[in-house]
Amino acid sequence: MRPVTVWLTGLSGAGKSTLAAELRRRLVRAARPCFVLDGDVVRSGINRDLGFTPQDRRENIRRVAEISRLMNDAGLIVLAAFISPYRSDRRMAAEIIGPGRFIEAYLDAPLEVCERRDPKGLYRRARTGALAEFTGVSAPYEPPEAPAIVLDTAGSGVDECASRLVELVNERTGAS
Ligand code: ADX
Repeated sequence: MRPVTVWLTGLSGAGKSTLAAELRRRLVRAARPCFVLDGDVVRSGINRDLGFTPQDRRENIRRVAEISRLMNDAGLIVLAAFISPYRSDRRMAAEIIGPGRFIEAYLDAPLEVCERRDPKGLYRRARTGALAEFTGVSAPYEPPEAPAIVLDTAGSGVDECASRLVELVNERTGAS
């Protein structure tokens, strides 16, 4: 079975971490070795030196892509949940990981929905100006042009999105 990296991209609050956790549960249940790399977790450890300028976001994505590649080499399926707002940075990640292993999944939830959810209160802080360079408010998000899969996380539930992702992972890894 070929290992892959499922790269979940989308706005803050689109459901990347939630979906990665559900996908992980399902893969573990199917005895598939996997690992979740999540923006908030990675940024509190190995990438704690990075902020949110375009340059720092690029370095964040570069390191995560290198880690994903190593984990894939070790046979793990990687579930990477990062806003990764820039197309050029996601292209770089695909090149590092290897186009055959990189599965771009776009969590396409409208900004209004993410902002209404605002699970961490960050949109509110961004609107008042207390938080600078916040994606969707004061920093850009460039949607993927040709993602492997688009998930409408505002209109569909976590279960449905996770099922579609498992199917795609099975196809790409050669599992039945
Ligand atoms: S990325 O743009 O470099 O890919 P990443 O996914 O690692 O971002 O981290 C995003 C998380 O950092 C958000 O979920 C949020 O909790 C936190 N965060 C803090 N400041 C910002 C900001 N200015 N823009 C986006 N996310 C931020």
